[in-house]
Amino acid sequence: MAIEKIGVVGCGLMGSGIAQTAAQFGYSVVVREVTPELWQKGFQNIERSLARMQQKGTLTSAQVDETCRRLRGTTDLHELSSCDLLIEAITEQMAVKKGLFGALDAICGPKTIFASNTSSLSITEMAAATRRPERVVGLHFFNPVPIMKLVELIRTIMTDAAVFEEIATFAARLGKVAVRTSDRTGFVVNRLLVPYLLDAVRALEEGVASVADLDQAMKLGCGHPMGPLTLLDFVGLDTTYYIANIMYDEFKERRFAPPPLLKRMVMAGWNGRKSGRGFYDYSDPDHPKPTMLA
Ligand code: CAA
Ligand code: NAD
Repeated sequence: MAIEKIGVVGCGLMGSGIAQTAAQFGYSVVVREVTPELWQKGFQNIERSLARMQQKGTLTSAQVDETCRRLRGTTDLHELSSCDLLIEAITEQMAVKKGLFGALDAICGPKTIFASNTSSLSITEMAAATRRPERVVGLHFFNPVPIMKLVELIRTIMTDAAVFEEIATFAARLGKVAVRTSDRTGFVVNRLLVPYLLDAVRALEEGVASVADLDQAMKLGCGHPMGPLTLLDFVGLDTTYYIANIMYDEFKERRFAPPPLLKRMVMAGWNGRKSGRGFYDYSDPDHPKPTMLA
């Protein structure tokens, strides 16, 4: 079965990037959000990203127009019923994702493949919430999706081998390089990245260095494109907090536990760049300023 029509659920940081990339590479894409305002906000992010690519000469204005024509937003889950592949990129909470897959299972044809962009949740548990566990995979993109080359492909013990190969072909058609992983929380990248990011928060809590110096040290000392606190703001502190709790619950190791400061920032609504404030204040997005000195 050829994959032609894609459904994306969630049009936040990741869903908007996934929808954009699929449309850029010729797929027809329907995106579902909970309110029209939310998918419209996501589509504005897509337009900004496409404009940036046009400015850089990566895309022509005709390609930008074609990409936009292939994208449609909706709040109605039923509009996804005829999709060949559904990719969920909603909040990192198992109950919400299982509820979504259960609802989609009831309205989609038996051939539809379900993919989750989860950072840390079990694909097996989501698959078990459907009557098509052999057609459920993990398809983990990286932020910002239009730019980052990697995608992690996750198969469970129930995944059909032919379905997994179809997903690998799809990822290649998006110009991504895939690594294949088993269904272990955090897969490859977050297993290694998340303890590093959490350690940066602990270093800040312990007064090792300021926000700006912690970031500067890892940028200039290790050649990272972003320092860890800038990256945390970029990923989203709420999302990182969910991921840390899920990983800690799985491994019971302190290195995955969310530091108290991270918890308090999330409680305060400081979710990072997307909320305008995290370790930095983004009131002037081109010149973010640290929100705390210690
Ligand atoms: N859309 C389109 N183009 C974009 C873009 C977007 N959203 N973001 C950046 N770009 C383009 C820029 O236009 C620029 O293009 P050229 O090379 O043609 O000039 C290029 O990307 C570089 O951008 P900038 O010059 O503005 O800034 P930069 O050099 O700092 O790069 C970055 C931006 C690519 C985001 C870089 O900072 C980076 O790689 N940061 C680290 C990102 C990272 O680690 N992501 C993984 C997060 S973890 C995750 O995703 C998994 C999880 O489950 C949590
Ligand atoms: P986000 O908060 O930016 O967006 C999530 C969106 O999902 C919100 O707009 C919300 O309204 C929407 N949503 C929630 N329930 C929904 C439903 N039932 N139907 C439609 N929309 C719904 O989060 P994000 O950063 O885009 O993360 C989404 C997923 O991608 C999570 O599983 C996360 O772990 C994963 N992920 C995140 C990153 C990252 O860097 N932020 C990277 C890779 C994977």
